[in-house]
Amino acid sequence: MDPAFAGNDACLPCHEREYKAHHNSFHDTSLRPATISGLGPATPPTGVVPLAGYAIDAKGEGFELRRGEGDALEKRQLNYALGSGKLGVTYVSITGEQLMETKMSYFPPYKLWEKTPGQEVHTENDRPFGREHPTTEGRMCLGCHTTALPVQGLQVARSFYGVGCESCHGPGKAHIEAVKSASSDLKMEKLGKRPPSRLNEMCGKCHRTANAVDLDTPEVNLTHRFQPYALQRSSCRTKDNEPLSCLFCHDPHQNVSDDKPPYERVCKSCHGGALEGINAATRAAVRTSKPCPVSPKQNCIQCHMRPKTVFPLTSVPAKMADHLISPPGMGTMRKNPTLGPAVNTFK
Ligand code: HEC
Ligand code: HEC
Ligand code: HEC
Ligand code: HEC
Ligand code: HEC
Ligand code: HEC
Ligand code: HEC
Repeated sequence: MDPAFAGNDACLPCHEREYKAHHNSFHDTSLRPATISGLGPATPPTGVVPLAGYAIDAKGEGFELRRGEGDALEKRQLNYALGSGKLGVTYVSITGEQLMETKMSYFPPYKLWEKTPGQEVHTENDRPFGREHPTTEGRMCLGCHTTALPVQGLQVARSFYGVGCESCHGPGKAHIEAVKSASSDLKMEKLGKRPPSRLNEMCGKCHRTANAVDLDTPEVNLTHRFQPYALQRSSCRTKDNEPLSCLFCHDPHQNVSDDKPPYERVCKSCHGGALEGINAATRAAVRTSKPCPVSPKQNCIQCHMRPKTVFPLTSVPAKMADHLISPPGMGTMRKNPTLGPAVNTFK
């Protein structure tokens, strides 16, 4: 493991508030061991998995996939569960240099097995259990769901499961040493001081900015899945022509709230509001734009950030808020989103 990383527990003694807020959040649980105690309510039902051509058996605390009989019997131990279970859980099995992603995922809120996104098209035989990824791709998959990767290979140390403090704040060992030696340089960046585009770039290394989206494919429309990209393409602008920052609407240490008025206060801080904290050029742009002809005072989110279906090729009805802020149904996109540097840094 990269020795510059300390793990969440090392931050607890000094930052209890952030630790408690983050602990067991969807970030924290986005990678867990594929065991009954690890998964709790997201534990899958055992037995034959519909349309998969395999069954899932409990084996001790863990799980194993099984297909065929007699000489053709094949088994595969599951190692990690990716996804908190808010929407879905995909299991992975690690053998040496390969990471296998199961072709069926479990969706706890709907108690449903469905095809894993990206593996909708397959037959029972072309992938016995799911898609095999070579080490490099496997590390990218784990990279977005863990705090730090091993120096090589695919076995993640337990203290780095899930999106942790250092996924966003960067490695923390040097900071802890700096605090302990009463150094004047704390070796820790104040993320809240970053301009929105650079803050969103950090979130975007996993949630994806325009750089990580293939604009020549249907991905171009996934503005509900890739929020940093969506905000780059929205007309709403702040200081220095910057997109809206995730921090305007979300506490990075907590799960999202579904209470709409706080989000709408953010809209109204610019549209028809006090126009605080935004520069003169943006203020002028908002001032000269026409007020909402439909509902200038309320319910902005339900029309301008409408939830869109997440898994259109499956029967899972989950939706996510469209972060492309646009007149409903029109989906106007800025033609030239300001592109940041290359995004996926997990090598
Ligand atoms: C031994 C105590 C200690 C530990 C352990 C510790 N910090 Fe800090 N941290 C501090 C102090 C003191 C400050 C500066 C005062 C403050 O803002 O709370 C600070 C500030 C910060 C800041 C704000 C930066 C700033 O300049 O205000 C962040 C972010 C942060 N720490 C993250 C972490 C993370 C992540 C970990 C775990 C990897 C961690 N800290 C571990 C004591 C600690
Ligand atoms: C290391 C990768 C990574 C980084 C960096 C990251 N996220 Fe996430 N985020 C994830 C993953 C993975 C999930 C899915 C969790 C799950 O399985 O439900 C997620 C989920 C979320 C959710 C959904 C929580 C909910 O209640 O549904 C929000 C909101 C979110 N992230 C915001 C942010 C913001 C804001 C930042 C930057 C300040 C950020 N994320 C940085 C990987 C990351
Ligand atoms: C570029 C970063 C990135 C990579 C690579 C990545 N994920 Fe994720 N994953 C995310 C983020 C961000 C979310 C949260 C989606 C959201 O709620 O916005 C997520 C969510 C999930 C979920 C929850 C269900 C869902 O679709 O929201 C599962 C399951 C999952 N990922 C599995 C995987 C697997 C398996 C791999 C590798 C084969 C993988 N992911 C690769 C960033 C990534
Ligand atoms: C999803 C990304 C993300 C994760 C995970 C995360 N943080 Fe933060 N943290 C941020 C951002 C962004 C800010 C700046 C918030 C702001 O200024 O509004 C911040 C602010 C802080 C601060 C400074 C508070 C202040 O008043 O400025 C501390 C301390 C901190 N985080 C510690 C932690 C610790 C400890 C953990 C793990 C238990 C953690 N963070 C997990 C993104 C994250
Ligand atoms: C103008 C406000 C606003 C901004 C800015 C914003 N979000 Fe959201 N976000 C929302 C709303 C509203 C929801 C839906 C909450 C609900 O009802 O569950 C949401 C939900 C989410 C979810 C959970 C999936 C879903 O749609 O339910 C993720 C992940 C997320 N936001 C990530 C981000 C990231 C990353 C950024 C920065 C790039 C960001 N958001 C910026 C308003 C905002
Ligand atoms: C930081 C200030 C700011 C915030 C916060 C903000 N906007 Fe905007 N918004 C703008 C600016 C600037 C424009 C562009 C006006 C123009 O060029 O005419 C804009 C444009 C729009 C448009 C027209 C989009 C188009 O493509 O024609 C809509 C609709 C809109 N905003 C709705 C919202 C909603 C809903 C929210 C809250 C979820 C919100 N805005 C939050 C600054 C903001
Ligand atoms: C019932 C749905 C609905 C609600 C609620 C709603 N809007 Fe709209 N809004 C629309 C539609 C439709 C348009 C496009 C109207 C047109 O172009 O004729 C629009 C247009 C806009 C525009 C662009 C105005 C222009 O012509 O340049 C802004 C800005 C805007 N809305 C902001 C908001 C804000 C802020 C809120 C919350 C206070 C809000 N809207 C609530 C439906 C809605």
